[in-house]
Amino acid sequence: MYLFKKSADLQAFLADYRSRNRQIGFVPTMGALHKGHLSLLHASQDTAHVTVCSIFVNPTQFNESADLQHYPRTPGRDIDLLHNAGCDILFMPEVEEVYPAEYEVPVPDVALGHLAEVMEGEHRPGHFEGVMQVVLRLLSLVQPDFLFMGQKDYQQLTIIREMIRQLSLEVELVGCPTLREPDGLAMSSRNVRLSPEDRSRALAISQTLAEAGSWAAALSPGEIQEKALNALREAGLVPEYFKLADAENLQLVDTFEAGREVIACVAARAGEVRLIDNRVIYPG
Ligand code: PAF
Repeated sequence: MYLFKKSADLQAFLADYRSRNRQIGFVPTMGALHKGHLSLLHASQDTAHVTVCSIFVNPTQFNESADLQHYPRTPGRDIDLLHNAGCDILFMPEVEEVYPAEYEVPVPDVALGHLAEVMEGEHRPGHFEGVMQVVLRLLSLVQPDFLFMGQKDYQQLTIIREMIRQLSLEVELVGCPTLREPDGLAMSSRNVRLSPEDRSRALAISQTLAEAGSWAAALSPGEIQEKALNALREAGLVPEYFKLADAENLQLVDTFEAGREVIACVAARAGEVRLIDNRVIYPG
């Protein structure tokens, strides 16, 4: 595995692949890697000729400085994991490399409308501007043919798809399924910060999402939301939202209709740790 810290070195190296029409897959991450990240890497390895993985904890997408400060960082372990998983290239830039002093990296001019106003957009002001800013910047440095991102961050995936569409970027976005621990907890870099007690409380998130699917036969979306929020509170979590949305465009729904897939998205705090998860609860 080749490790680059400077984008000029990465680009010079990739130029050779590009000149030989080799397709480049890109997996952007913020490190603290787990099997979910490795599944993105494997999806890229199955699709492209060469895979670039990046590790960069992007400061502009954190709306709380304490969250940025406590974000887990395990660079040595991450390098070993990627090397052992057969990653071709790791890009690990410093902040100055992504956001150089002499150049203001723009926030992409993308009209997100309600996509950025609901759920994470409502609860984490500025978050998606930061995500779009760094993803577009990384795409411009790596210039991949394929971009692999996880469905656990479903709203992020939807927004990046919309950014690619509006800016007519020449990259194919591949959304990869959420990986779960055997007990159902969605894999997340943040899970390492959970105390044993909060980790067992956090199981209520995936359990409630699974149960909400069975409630859909008898209850309305509004009733499901209420019941789910109560279940999360009873489990000792502090839910921020539990929303039912059209899986295609994230419009919040108040009825179930044939032909419209509905996804339930949740954010809840287990102790100090904020977790998100989602599940399709009505296949449409
Ligand atoms: O999903 C993440 O880890 C981050 O939001 C991403 C896409 C790497 C951008 O910093």
